[in-house]
Amino acid sequence: MTRLTLNDEPIHYKLDPATPLLWALRDASNLTGTKYGCDSKDCGACTVIVDGRAVASCAVGIGELEGARVTTIEGLSAGGSHPVQQAWLAEQVTMCGACEPGFIMAIAALLDSNPSPDDAAIAALPNICRCGAYVRIRRAIARAAQSSPGPQRFDPAGKAERTDTKRLSLGSSGGAQESPDK
Ligand code: FES
Ligand code: FES
Repeated sequence: MTRLTLNDEPIHYKLDPATPLLWALRDASNLTGTKYGCDSKDCGACTVIVDGRAVASCAVGIGELEGARVTTIEGLSAGGSHPVQQAWLAEQVTMCGACEPGFIMAIAALLDSNPSPDDAAIAALPNICRCGAYVRIRRAIARAAQSSPGPQRFDPAGKAERTDTKRLSLGSSGGAQESPDK
């Protein structure tokens, strides 16, 4: 049995301790907002927050989480009111939405620890958006960060966006999949 706190509620999982957290959430708790993407810790679609840190839930067995505090997209805020969720809507980030919960959780954890992230901190996010919505994602990060104190060190207008279509990295090139008016 694994005991943890899930979205502020105690829960006991009577599952094999090796069960990935992703499947405990989705299959046992019916919290399907956490997405399955790669099952290899490469895409970030399954990201949740564990004790304040962004964690790929596909890559951690529940037995490793005894006593941990886990937050999923369902528990991030009441009614989608978290600044990152609000920024996501305001910047119209969603395309297919598959990456969305994982990205939002990763960004929420980032801004909790670093309210004014620089380009390097943003580029270090491991999440992938297969739809290539990176320009809008960066704008959403900037918008969400504006509600936190301290100077903003990245371009809130998104003009400094790179054209990488795989990650929010700085050095790669590739065809951006953003329309010019977004
Ligand atoms: S499904 Fe976990 S990182 Fe891709
Ligand atoms: S919106 Fe489709 S993968 Fe990101």
